[in-house]
Amino acid sequence: MRLIPIESLDTEGLADYSRLTDVALRRVSEPEGGLYIAESTKVITRALAAGHRPRSVLLQEQWVKDVAPLLDAFPDVPVYVGDAPTLESLTGYHLHRGALAAMHRPEMPDMRSLIRGARRIVLLEDIVDHTNVGAIFRSVAGLGADAVLVSPRCADPLYRRSVRVSMGTVLQVPWTRMPEWPEAQAILHEEGFHIAALALDDKAVTLDAFSHTPPERVALALGAEGDGLSSAALEAADTTVMIPMLHGVDSLNVASASAVALWSLRVGA
Ligand SMILES: C[S@@+](CC[C@H](N)C(=O)[O-])C[C@H]1O[C@@H](n2cnc3c(N)ncnc32)[C@H](O)[C@@H]1O
Repeated sequence: MRLIPIESLDTEGLADYSRLTDVALRRVSEPEGGLYIAESTKVITRALAAGHRPRSVLLQEQWVKDVAPLLDAFPDVPVYVGDAPTLESLTGYHLHRGALAAMHRPEMPDMRSLIRGARRIVLLEDIVDHTNVGAIFRSVAGLGADAVLVSPRCADPLYRRSVRVSMGTVLQVPWTRMPEWPEAQAILHEEGFHIAALALDDKAVTLDAFSHTPPERVALALGAEGDGLSSAALEAADTTVMIPMLHGVDSLNVASASAVALWSLRVGA
């Protein structure tokens, strides 16, 4: 392992971690071919298991023994080691989860090959909140759906907060960003998917009714927190499905809605 004690915060390789505020992270993590930050040994382990490559690691001395075995295959990756105050002044926050790794973002898989063979997929249209994106991935993993498609404007699943809220499942669940949506509905139909739009609509069928004899392959579309699914998405759907609401509540949080629907439509569990 290539341990590098931090002697100066100006060290070139540390720039990936400097002032890790949400805004700064967005800058380094969003561009295609850029980086994302894996936080904690657990998430780093998942990222490596997914075949992602680290560019560097940042940690306190006490975590070296935990991280060392993870990096056996990457002897040349720099591992920057510093004390808590040094790391805090570098990143802008207290690093209580032990280690951070700057990871190379994986190439986005082709949508068609990603969904081929899948039976349940989730499609996120313009979800803006990284917490919701992370929570949906956690439900997808835990309730056995096969893949996630995100619209061009959907929040980044590899953003630090999404990764953390997902418990690292964004690194495990196959996903890709659709180049265009709702134009991609043609691909979904060609691959045999029934598009079910989750929306509160007078003409919607209830989730219970839809789940009674569900289609073999379902793409479950979820809409943005404020406005819900666009009219174009609703038009692209084969069925609109609603979870009936009680006590005057108008809707569920989008991540809660995904969990309810995925459980109802689960295959073989
Ligand atoms: C907070 S809701 C958006 C509410 C928005 N005012 C609307 O009318 O769609 C965000 C997303 O969660 C899903 N959702 C939430 N509650 C739902 C329900 N009771 N039935 C079906 N979908 C629901 C839908 O996909 C919706 O686009």
